[in-house]
Amino acid sequence: MKTSTFFILIGFLLLAPSSSTAEILRDKDCGSCHRLSVAETEKNFAAPDLHFAGDKFQPAWLKQFLKNPAVIRPAVTVIDTPPRPPVTVADANTAVVTAAGFLRERSGNSPPHPSFSEQDASALADGLMGLKISAPPRESTVAAPLSKRQRAKIKYKFERTFSCISCHQSLNLAGKVRGGISGPSLVNAGNRLRADWIVSWLKTPEAYAAKSRMPRYEMDSVTRNQFSQFLMTLKKENVK
Ligand code: HEC
Ligand code: HEC
Repeated sequence: MKTSTFFILIGFLLLAPSSSTAEILRDKDCGSCHRLSVAETEKNFAAPDLHFAGDKFQPAWLKQFLKNPAVIRPAVTVIDTPPRPPVTVADANTAVVTAAGFLRERSGNSPPHPSFSEQDASALADGLMGLKISAPPRESTVAAPLSKRQRAKIKYKFERTFSCISCHQSLNLAGKVRGGISGPSLVNAGNRLRADWIVSWLKTPEAYAAKSRMPRYEMDSVTRNQFSQFLMTLKKENVK
């Protein structure tokens, strides 16, 4: 091989565009249930949006989930995607199976959530962490833990003033899971979500979900931060 050809070859390899994260995820069919790009506005998705996964999740949690998917939204009903391409309308309709038991063991007739080996889960989690939106500017989040008094006060707000608990599972003082199931479980929020994303979600939910079933609250930035700090203390290892 002539030296020049060699260098051209190397140059080509270095410049060849590597497939983007979104493409890899799409290849693995994640995109049939999850929104992976902010541009996909035309479609309704059966599963939670992932196009801002890098803003929302903690990487270690993502990896763990991809190794061993667990239920977060106990009340979620998944509409199975029709077989592609749908042959007839009737075919498409029979394929629409509601599976309230999705991600739960052996119930319903939908296949389980894809899961991966250590290595693949790690690579996919890294890829997902690259999915970000040009989010509204973040408020600075306070890292200092809540004092006992502050924690008691914000817990009261979570349970009474704002009644977050009517839709979200959380932990009581004895470490028991309690709360409603119409929203995602927050029992493991401290391992799963990023503190600054929680603040951003409470401030500008419309940046993440065009329409949300969660009420829009007027609250000041101190309260938002305290909710975030409170949720960061909820971890599944504290469940008794
Ligand atoms: C058949 C539909 C389907 C496919 C295909 C699918 N998922 Fe999911 N996924 C779901 C549903 C439904 C949930 C929500 C489960 C819950 O909240 O209990 C979920 C949850 C998730 C979550 C947690 C998100 C959150 O907000 O809690 C991640 C991360 C995820 N999926 C990644 C993937 C990846 C990566 C792929 C491709 C390898 C994939 N999914 C393929 C249906 C699907
Ligand atoms: C009427 C039910 C309802 C109430 C009350 C409610 N939420 Fe939610 N919340 C939801 C739903 C549903 C979602 C999922 C996002 C969506 O569907 O738009 C959500 C999402 C969230 C998320 C993101 C969780 C995730 O994994 O995606 C956080 C954090 C959250 N809520 C915190 C709160 C806090 C804090 C309060 C009280 C100030 C509250 N919620 C009150 C229904 C509710």
